[in-house]
Amino acid sequence: MATFLLFLLAILSLLPFSLSVITMQPSEKETLFRVMDSMSSDRVWRVSNPEPCSPGQSWPGIECKTGTDNYLHVTRLDFGFGLNPSCMQNATFPPLIFSLPHLQSLFFMNCFCFNQRKTSLSFPVLNESSPNSYNSLQQLSFKSNPSLTGKIPAEISFLKSLQVLTLSQNNLSGNIPDSISTITSLIHLDLSYNSLTGTIPAQIGQLRNLAGLDLSYNSLSGTIPASIGSLGQLQKLDLSSNKLTGTMPEAVRSLLDLSFLALNNNRLSGKLPNGLYQLHNLQYFIMDDNPMFVPLPSEIGNLTRLQELRLANSGYSGSIPVSFTWLTNLSTLSLENNKLTGEIPVGLTNLGKMYHLNLSRNMLNGVVPFNAGFVKRLGRNMDLSENTGLCINGSDGYYERADVGVGLCGDHGSSTGTGLMENESNSNSGSITNSGFCQFRICSNVMVVLGFWAFYCYLL
Ligand SMILES: *[C@@H]1O[C@H](CO)[C@@H](O)[C@H](O)[C@H]1NC(C)=O
Ligand SMILES: *[C@@H]1O[C@H](CO)[C@@H](O)[C@H](O)[C@H]1NC(C)=O
Ligand SMILES: *[C@@H]1O[C@H](CO)[C@@H](O)[C@H](O)[C@H]1NC(C)=O
Ligand SMILES: *[C@@H]1O[C@H](CO)[C@@H](O)[C@H](O)[C@H]1NC(C)=O
Ligand SMILES: *[C@@H]1O[C@H](CO)[C@@H](O)[C@H](O)[C@H]1NC(C)=O
Ligand SMILES: *[C@@H]1O[C@H](CO)[C@@H](O)[C@H](O)[C@H]1NC(C)=O
Ligand SMILES: *[C@@H]1O[C@H](CO)[C@@H](O)[C@H](O)[C@H]1NC(C)=O
Ligand SMILES: *[C@@H]1O[C@H](CO)[C@@H](O)[C@H](O)[C@H]1NC(C)=O
Repeated sequence: MATFLLFLLAILSLLPFSLSVITMQPSEKETLFRVMDSMSSDRVWRVSNPEPCSPGQSWPGIECKTGTDNYLHVTRLDFGFGLNPSCMQNATFPPLIFSLPHLQSLFFMNCFCFNQRKTSLSFPVLNESSPNSYNSLQQLSFKSNPSLTGKIPAEISFLKSLQVLTLSQNNLSGNIPDSISTITSLIHLDLSYNSLTGTIPAQIGQLRNLAGLDLSYNSLSGTIPASIGSLGQLQKLDLSSNKLTGTMPEAVRSLLDLSFLALNNNRLSGKLPNGLYQLHNLQYFIMDDNPMFVPLPSEIGNLTRLQELRLANSGYSGSIPVSFTWLTNLSTLSLENNKLTGEIPVGLTNLGKMYHLNLSRNMLNGVVPFNAGFVKRLGRNMDLSENTGLCINGSDGYYERADVGVGLCGDHGSSTGTGLMENESNSNSGSITNSGFCQFRICSNVMVVLGFWAFYCYLL
């Protein structure tokens, strides 16, 4: 008992001592409080949390680490979601935050939400000899901040160690600065859901470490630069919903790790490059809504790992290649609203992982070749409507329960199908309005199909 008390005394006497040793530098603490005061009125931070890096005194959304100088330093700050500090209605972007010299991660989500105070990014030129986070920042994320407007400043290249840059779902405009290509440490670059214009900088090929590039839902024009072929580590490339023109560059041949490629809803046209068919890791190829107007290439059948193939609304002609029956892992095949002719390849019925098939609004003909198991499995996820030449063999009673939108062979009456007669001209399924500001929208908008979300988040 006595030894235990002694032990306790020893611990108690050490405790205040150890706390007093590891503390923050006053200047860093003052900078932190000034940032907190300008961002969040949840509390009077310097009163409620006078030693914000000390155990028991910090708040959700702050992380500190002990430096080699034996001081505690702020390494991470999160604002605007979950239990993290919420942002004041009139908060604006705090450039002062870059004066925190050990900051590694910075997150603002649902933060700059109120139209009365527009704000923009800025990276002040900081005196080399004064402390700043330009060399320490590894993750910078501004997500879903609709009042964050203006350009992405060229000075973003001050952030020499950045690995993750997310500026998604804000109201950013102007060009993507060329200087972004000098941040060669970048692994993930996400500028999606803004109003960016201009072309994709050709220098982007310098970002040799990129594993994920998402520029979707902007207004980028011009062609896809051939230099993307230099991004040999790329696993996810999403350039969908822009105004890109020209053909897919042959240089995609080099993207051997690519598993996700989305180019849908652009103005791309012409022949797909031979290099595409070398991408043996491709699992998602999403390219609907482009004015391609070429025969559907049989070489797509060589992409045997494909799980999702979407080429709807793109003017493809010719027949559905028999090689598509090699795509044994395919779960979604979306070819609606093209100019496809001929019969449906019999072998498609053997694709045992298929759960979604849309061939509606083509000029296919002949007897629908699917067996009972296939028809049952797909159910309402199969749509063959508006192909005037297709028909169902009346002896195959199993079609009756599934409304696939096709009449019986020999019956020249009207189609039994749901015959979706929407009168919209080329409705733009992808257009996302900036409504519902400041809600958790991370993946919901891009979640075209189940599985997509898991994949997307896995890549992040
Ligand atoms: C922002 O609003 C808070 C009250 O919510 C007020 O105390 C503060 O002065 C305002 N700051 C600015 C810069 O307008
Ligand atoms: C940098 O800052 C130090 C101290 O704050 C100052 O003495 C020096 O003149 C500054 N240098 C420049 C180039 O501004
Ligand atoms: C986004 O920016 C545009 C102009 O750049 C502006 O008209 C619009 O109101 C902004 N949206 C929000 C939510 O601030
Ligand atoms: C596609 O696969 C076939 C059969 O495996 C092969 O002969 C052909 O060269 C391949 N084509 C391309 C473009 O890879
Ligand atoms: C199909 O998917 C399974 C499981 O994900 C995988 O093991 C297999 O290699 C894939 N097949 C092809 C041809 O990629
Ligand atoms: C198939 O595509 C059409 C557009 O042509 C769409 O209206 C319909 O809902 C789709 N059907 C299914 C089952 O996905
Ligand atoms: C319909 O199916 C029956 C039995 O499977 C077969 O004998 C007949 O030839 C088929 N008719 C057509 C038009 O394919
Ligand atoms: C479809 O649109 C055309 C003109 O674009 C119009 O004449 C026709 O009445 C519309 N049909 C329906 C069913 O709305």
